[in-house]
Amino acid sequence: MAGRLTFTMIKPDAVQNGHIGEILSIILRNGFKIRAMKLTQLTPEQAGKFYAVHKERPFYAELCAYMSSGPIVAALLEKENAVEDFRALIGATDPAKAAEGTIRRMFAKSISENAIHGSDSDENALVEGRFFFSELEIF
Ligand code: CMP
Repeated sequence: MAGRLTFTMIKPDAVQNGHIGEILSIILRNGFKIRAMKLTQLTPEQAGKFYAVHKERPFYAELCAYMSSGPIVAALLEKENAVEDFRALIGATDPAKAAEGTIRRMFAKSISENAIHGSDSDENALVEGRFFFSELEIF
């Protein structure tokens, strides 16, 4: 059965462009509950750890530099079928391919500065959630 939790980050481009409020409002309107949230900034080392699965990809260095370049909002979200529904709400990784009405279509600038992250599996939602909210008892 699909899990009820997913993890998201509003990325540096979206935070810098003043889109935190609009993006959170869309998330809430779509039935997600915020179980934990924080405004924070990753160090390059932390970004490297978070995205370690992409270590061999050609964009890894750029991704880590970008994700540590400014504040982000990290949040743990709850809803039935959370991972799949949230990925539908944010749209494709490349905003040029993201469907009309999705968060990336509305706010992302490019495939690397793509406004928002969403976990790609229930397992990763827990791993990523723990990365930022290890103190929570829900894990
Ligand atoms: P995210 O869903 O947070 O997880 C991995 C990130 O890598 C992805 O969003 C993009 O921001 C980034 N990414 C994926 N493909 C590319 C690419 N071809 N070039 C640069 N960044 C990428």
